[in-house]
Amino acid sequence: MSSDDEAEEYLFKIVIIGDSAVGKSNLLSRYSRNEFNMHSKATIGVEFQTQSMEIEGKEVKAQIWDTAGQERFRAVTSAYYRGAVGALLVYDITRRTTFDSIGRWLDELTTHSDTTAARMLVGNKKDLDDIRSISIEEGKSLAEEHGLFFMETSAKDSTNVKTAFEMVIKEIY
Ligand code: GTP
Ligand code: MG
Repeated sequence: MSSDDEAEEYLFKIVIIGDSAVGKSNLLSRYSRNEFNMHSKATIGVEFQTQSMEIEGKEVKAQIWDTAGQERFRAVTSAYYRGAVGALLVYDITRRTTFDSIGRWLDELTTHSDTTAARMLVGNKKDLDDIRSISIEEGKSLAEEHGLFFMETSAKDSTNVKTAFEMVIKEIY
């Protein structure tokens, strides 16, 4: 019996949410294509990328969904969350309003998906440390309060991007 025939495939849906311009699309392009765009346009509707990784000798595929932070550009909310088993809730460490919005994103996530096993709070733009307005401690404590993993990332210089996605995927698996 060939082990290839027996190979199981795992496909997990993960959603990225957070206010406009926090860097959701660049986190995804950095992770899936190792690309960063300094002048990326706001997302309209929904995009997704499928990314594979190996865990314990098995191929695991994550289908990572990215949507617009701006309400007027967003797709149907319930469809976006349907079947998601992981979520990254992203804010920009230099803009407090984006951090203040996390509670609302979390409410929306909770309302529309009861299946998300792994949720991570992500403070993006770590490279802009000199103009940060949210401390690491503040991020950590919000994450603890809501039972989320926590990580600061930079889509620009790649810091922790792979780690963040893979931590969520491993937790689901
Ligand atoms: P919407 O699609 O409107 O919801 O925005 P988004 O969250 O997808 O943001 P996007 O990835 O388009 O990034 C917005 C801006 O922030 C762009 O100019 C990016 O180049 C910039 N950006 C994203 N990530 C980083 C980062 O880690 N560091 C820095 N310095 N800039 C970043
Ligand atoms: Mg986007």
